Amino acid sequence: MKAIVVTDQAAGTAGMTLTERPEPRASINDVIVQIHASGFVPTEMEWPSTWTDRAGRDKTPSIPGHELAGVVTALGYGTTGLSVGQRVFGLADWHRDGTLAEYVAIEARNLAPLPGDVDFTVGASLPISGLTAWQGLFQHGRLQSGQTVLVHGAAGAVGTMVTQLAREAGAYVIGTGRAADREKALDFGVHEFVDLENDALKDVGAVDLVFDVIGGDVQKRSAALIKAGGTLVSIVGPVESRPADGLAVDFVVEADRAELGEIVQRVRDGRLRTNIGDIASLDDAVGALNPTTRRRGKTVIRVRP
Ligand SMILES: NC(=O)c1ccc[n+]([C@@H]2O[C@H](COP(=O)([O-])OP(=O)(O)OC[C@H]3O[C@@H](n4cnc5c(N)ncnc54)[C@H](OP(=O)(O)O)[C@@H]3O)[C@@H](O)[C@H]2O)c1
Repeated sequence: MKAIVVTDQAAGTAGMTLTERPEPRASINDVIVQIHASGFVPTEMEWPSTWTDRAGRDKTPSIPGHELAGVVTALGYGTTGLSVGQRVFGLADWHRDGTLAEYVAIEARNLAPLPGDVDFTVGASLPISGLTAWQGLFQHGRLQSGQTVLVHGAAGAVGTMVTQLAREAGAYVIGTGRAADREKALDFGVHEFVDLENDALKDVGAVDLVFDVIGGDVQKRSAALIKAGGTLVSIVGPVESRPADGLAVDFVVEADRAELGEIVQRVRDGRLRTNIGDIASLDDAVGALNPTTRRRGKTVIRVRP
């Protein structure tokens, strides 16, 4: 099968090559999915799981990409809940070969049915950003209606999902980003926007929840804004700055079929909009994943036309 592989961590996404790889085999409780579209998070080359298996052994050449939408073509031993021919979308295991390929072997529990009226490109854009937003807000952040949320990177892949879900849940949403992100963040529903390059973050006042996708100094300044009993949720590694009288959580998103169902239903009924930028074929994926200008949204690779 055709696949994008990486072998050199230092080279980053520039080290991607399109090559031929053996088709994967379905293990216990797996399905094989013929991939129609694949999502990619630009920081994947920095994740240890791109380079090693669960035992810490080198797994290069490694196929990146962890979001997919496609069609089930085979079932592994003991697999239940999905059937051959079914449209699915979901989140591939971090330590196994990923989704920038024509086929992937993936545990069935990591997938959800993709309704027939949702395009594969849309399906592939949702799993990581949608589930991360959902779990960060509702599971780890315990968001309640009427609370104030500070969403960093509000025009990004995760940030646009956080903004929309938080608003739907009845929160007051303050988004941040670069100056150029203001219109987009407002368009996705932030009530206020803070330009981190020019505005004073402290002027936003006290907040109940910070959803941090940036870290470092931004995280430190944000922790100081959290009300007593509030929460700092980080998705960029261990929390470096804790709120004085609140909780701090860092987490890695997990696959969840029921939550994928909630997310895709919101896309179908118009409550959730996707943030898709460039769409490219697998043949053009290396170029598309190494853009020379700023990304306009999530890049989705359309593996099958
Ligand atoms: N733990 C998890 O489970 C998990 C899940 C998903 C994502 N992540 C991580 O979360 C981060 C965000 O992911 P994403 O897919 O949402 O990325 P993204 O689409 O690039 O969004 C991040 C946004 O934040 C902006 N930003 C970054 N640093 C900034 C700064 N110093 N000042 C102002 N704006 C800044 C970015 O602008 P520029 O593009 O101009 O920098 C971009 O608009 C990544 O590091 C990713 O690896 C973690």
